[in-house]
Amino acid sequence: MNPDIFNVLNMLVYVIYFMLPAYIANVSALTFGGGTPLDFGQNFRDGRRILGDGVTWKGLVVGTLMGTIVGLLQGLLVGNISFGILLGFLLGLGALVGDAAGSFIKRRINIGRGRPAPLLDQLDFVVGALVLSSLVFYPGLPIIIIALIISPILHLSANAISYALGMKDVWY
Ligand code: CTP
Ligand code: MG
Repeated sequence: MNPDIFNVLNMLVYVIYFMLPAYIANVSALTFGGGTPLDFGQNFRDGRRILGDGVTWKGLVVGTLMGTIVGLLQGLLVGNISFGILLGFLLGLGALVGDAAGSFIKRRINIGRGRPAPLLDQLDFVVGALVLSSLVFYPGLPIIIIALIISPILHLSANAISYALGMKDVWY
């Protein structure tokens, strides 16, 4: 194989591996979320919901837990369990806090729950995960740039699959 292609593939696999706790946290929230909304149904001062019904406690807790478990397994793999747990926790929690921040912004600019906000929907959780995890680990600019490019593609693919499986009302 062409060595350049090998390098690019290597980077892609590394980014997916690094971001895995965030991805799993997001998918887990989608799969197991629901119930009491994080904003308890409260409105903001503009009269619209603070976050909306798509951001729930169960999604936040289960998603963060699953991200932490993935981090634990990654830590086991390299023999640094406590760091794995910490990084997984921060990536998972960061993904869901970022997603909630995205919902907050959407409600403020009057985009209803589940309505599309291109780029924001695909990047809010990535930025949240990278910001929180940077407290303990900085992966470097190339990794961050690749994560910002491939995460939206993976996110849209996962959502399309969820839609096909009947778990989501819209394909995006
Ligand atoms: N979810 C959840 N709790 C979270 C995050 C997500 O329960 N903290 C679940 C919800 O069922 C949500 C689904 O995952 O509907 C998909 O998340 P997302 O696409 O971010 O929510 P939307 O319904 O599109 O709402 P919003 O417009 O606020 O993004
Ligand atoms: Mg969202």
